[in-house]
Amino acid sequence: IGGVKIAKDDVVRESDPTNNVPDGIFSKLGLQLHRRDNHPLGILKNAIYDYFDTSYSTKFVKFDDLCPLVSVKANFDDVLVPADHVSRSYNDTYYVDANTVLRCHTSAHQAELLRDGHTHFLVTGDVYRRDSIDATHYPVFHQMEGVRVFSPDEWASSGTDGTTYAANDLKKALEGLAQHLFGAVEMRWVDTYFPFTNPSFELEIYFQEKWLEVLGCGVTEQDILKQSGRKVDVAWAFGLGLERLAMVLFDIPDIRLFWSNDPRFTSQFSEGQLGTKFKPFSKFPPCYKDMSFWINDSFTENNLCEIIRGIAGDLVEEVLLIDNFTNKKGMTSHCYRIAYRSMERSLTDEEINKLQWDVRETVQSKLNVVLRQ
Ligand code: PHE
Repeated sequence: IGGVKIAKDDVVRESDPTNNVPDGIFSKLGLQLHRRDNHPLGILKNAIYDYFDTSYSTKFVKFDDLCPLVSVKANFDDVLVPADHVSRSYNDTYYVDANTVLRCHTSAHQAELLRDGHTHFLVTGDVYRRDSIDATHYPVFHQMEGVRVFSPDEWASSGTDGTTYAANDLKKALEGLAQHLFGAVEMRWVDTYFPFTNPSFELEIYFQEKWLEVLGCGVTEQDILKQSGRKVDVAWAFGLGLERLAMVLFDIPDIRLFWSNDPRFTSQFSEGQLGTKFKPFSKFPPCYKDMSFWINDSFTENNLCEIIRGIAGDLVEEVLLIDNFTNKKGMTSHCYRIAYRSMERSLTDEEINKLQWDVRETVQSKLNVVLRQ
């Protein structure tokens, strides 16, 4: 698509009941923040490129312009995500139709690139997930995937098996990357599970008095290589979230800022300058509105958040469940506190009241819940 905007009408059939992608999400397609060299995400992407170009034994081929609309097969089946995995649900993933999703991870491109014969590659792109709302979650974010394939002659003389060889190479490469980005930090490896790798690990670094998860990775499942015509080879793969890292590297306090066109944000970053500390332009006051209702069986927090984001856009900062109880009749009540705050200006009472009114009406009619107050 080459950074070209994708219009909803071009990909969604008017009547398709499967589509759960709201207009607000369609409006983000094609913006490609990771391809802007003066944007924190572009600066971080380029810094990771630099690391692999200068410190790794072989050069990686880079992709940062692959279309975010992918098949269900590419996003899930090809990377061995089980049929009953939650990530496949309509509550977690955006479906354009029954066979097409907005990719929920850059791993969606692994199998195809392997089939095309690539053995070293980095894929950067926008990814999409339905989720709750707070300072670190936004339904569109950016990931970078790395894959490196080894043929048997590469580990033959190492005295270890292919899996051990790949795992060691992976860990060394990623420890080097963390150092390149964060300097001399304490790190630890945590065992974890991904459907597409085995063994699987998470790398954490000790940063600003907390253990921070930096990325997920592992040795690629043999079936993925087999299906790509690479029966005798072994590979490693990693995936990292650019926003998560950029927020700590640049001191960016809220994930919505990445989407801001306000020059007071954009002018603070420039090409090649990794880790410039963001200076907040005075923090505007938040406004809290509570809303409680009796939920029904189909209620989910992701559906609620989607409605609120659809109405308030980037003016909503957080949606928090503050009370939850079930009465004697078995009815369950939830109370949510919605924080409204603009990153750019003060909001008026009138404007917030109108948003809240809209939210209440829409939540009631679309989610079929019964408002309590
Ligand atoms: N796709 C995983 C995620 O989105 C990250 C990952 C990529 C893990 C490759 C292992 C290997 O969380």
